[in-house]
Amino acid sequence: MADFIGAVDQGTTSTRFMLFDHGGNERGRFQLEHEQILPRAGWVEHNPLEIRERTETVVRTVMNQMGLSASDLAAIGVTNQRETTVVWDRRSGRPLYNAIVWQDTRTDRIASALERDGRGDVIRRKAGLPPATYFSAGKVQWILENVDGAREAAERGDALFGNTDSWLMWNFTGGIDGGVHVTDVTNASRTMLMNLETLDWDDELLSFFDIPRSMLPEIRPSSDPQGYGTVRTGGPHGGEIPLTGDLGDQQAATVGQVCFSPGEAKNTYGTGNFMLLNTGEELVRSKSGLLTTVCYRFGDARPVYALEGSIAVTGSAVQWLRDQLGIIRDAAQSEVLARQVEDNGGVYFVPAFSGLFAPYWRSDARGVIVGLSRYNTSAHLARATLEAICYQSRDVVEAMAKDSGVDLDVLKVDGGVTANSLCMQLQADILGVPVSRPKVAETTALGAAYAAGLAVGFWKDTDELRANWNEGERWTPTWSDEERAAGYRGWQKAVERTLDWVD
Ligand code: G3P
Repeated sequence: MADFIGAVDQGTTSTRFMLFDHGGNERGRFQLEHEQILPRAGWVEHNPLEIRERTETVVRTVMNQMGLSASDLAAIGVTNQRETTVVWDRRSGRPLYNAIVWQDTRTDRIASALERDGRGDVIRRKAGLPPATYFSAGKVQWILENVDGAREAAERGDALFGNTDSWLMWNFTGGIDGGVHVTDVTNASRTMLMNLETLDWDDELLSFFDIPRSMLPEIRPSSDPQGYGTVRTGGPHGGEIPLTGDLGDQQAATVGQVCFSPGEAKNTYGTGNFMLLNTGEELVRSKSGLLTTVCYRFGDARPVYALEGSIAVTGSAVQWLRDQLGIIRDAAQSEVLARQVEDNGGVYFVPAFSGLFAPYWRSDARGVIVGLSRYNTSAHLARATLEAICYQSRDVVEAMAKDSGVDLDVLKVDGGVTANSLCMQLQADILGVPVSRPKVAETTALGAAYAAGLAVGFWKDTDELRANWNEGERWTPTWSDEERAAGYRGWQKAVERTLDWVD
C-alpha cells in the first residue's frame, strides 16, 4: 500500500505541495511564491500560467527530493485560495485574462447595484452571501464585459470559468486534451451562483450576472471516491495518481483541524483571517454579518455547513509594514519590533485596504491609523498591526456568539501568522479565551490530504483523523477584564473612522 497522500495548496501568495503519512505527519514540502500583480489601486491579479507552472514545479520537486514514484502516493487532494477567478479558453488552454483575486475591489459598482434593486436579498437567501466584490460572480461578469472576445467565447461555449482548483485540475487531467472541468461544493459556495440548498448552479443567480451555464464547472463532493480524474507524473517513476479531494482552503483547514462536530471552530491566520464554525447539517442564516457556506461534503453523505467570518487583511498588513513602509525586513521582525513596547501607546491601525469584510461588509471603508502622538514609534505601529489582526478576529467571534449562542471556551488556530507568539498571546488577551495551535500547523494542506485520503480508504473515517490531532502550543489570557474592555472600545472607535471614506 502507498505510504503517502499528497496535497497541493494553491494559496494567495504561494503554492505548496506537501506529503502526509497515515498519522497526519508532514513528510515532505516545497513551496514557491508567485507575483502579486497590482495594476491600479484596488486591483489584484495573478498570472494563471505562472500558478500552473509553479504548481508543477513544487510537485516535481517534492517527488524528486524524496525519490518517490507515483505509486508511493495513494491519492492527491487540492485546496485553493477561494473566489479568485480564472476564465480560460478550452480550445487553446490560454487564460482570457489574468486571475482576478478575491481581494480585488474593481467590481464595487457591480456589487452595489445588486444591493440597490433587491437582487442582493435573493443572493443572501439563495447563496448565503452578501453581495460584495469578494466573490467570483462579479469578477466573471467583469471579464465578460471588459475583455475583448470573452463574451463571444462564452457564447460559443469555449470560455470556461473556475477558481484555481478547477484551473489546476483541468490542466492536471489533460487540459486541451480532455481535462475535467470540475469544482467542489465548498468552492462553488463562494461564487454567488450556487444555491446552498440544491447545491447546484442557480439560473436566477446566473441571470443576475449574465453568465452562461456552459462556463461553469461540474460541482462535485469535496472528497470523492469516484475521483475527479488522475494526475500524470512524468519521468522513469511516473504514473497516474488519483485526484480525490478538493476544498476551498479555509474549509480544508477546518477539516485539518478536525472540526467535524457542530459548534467546533477554527481561525486561520494567513493573508487574511478566516474563522469557520461547523453548524452541522443545519443551514444557519447569519443576522450578524457572517457568511453561510458549505463546510465540506464527503462522498454522497449530506453536506455539512458552516458560518464564516472572513477578514480581508491580517497577515498582509504585516507584509505592508515590510513592503510599503519598509519598517521591518521580514514578517518575523514584526514580533521583535512590537516587543520593544509594553502596549500600543494609544495607536490603533485598521487595515481596511479592501474595505471591511465580516462582520461589517463595507466596501466604502479604507484603512486608518489613529491615536498618534509625537511619543509613538514604529514599534507602536508594529504592535497596533498585530493587535489589528486580533481585534478583527474578536469582531468575528462576537458575531459568531450572537448568531449561534455558542461561547468559545478555546480558539483553535493555524496558519503562518500563528508563528508569531506575541500575536497569539495578544489574541488570547483580547478575546479572554485560551488559544490553541495543533502540532501540525499546516492544517490547510492536511485537510485536503484528509479529504483525498478518506475517498480512497487511506483513512477509514473521521474518528481516525481526530486521533491525529495533538496540541502543539497554548496561550492563556493575562489581561484584566478592564484592560480588555478598554482596548476593545478603542478599536471600535477606530473602526468607525474607516467608514464612508469612499463615495
Ligand atoms: O477567501 C480567500 C481565502 O481562501 C484566501 O486564503 O490563505 O490563500 O490567503 P489564503
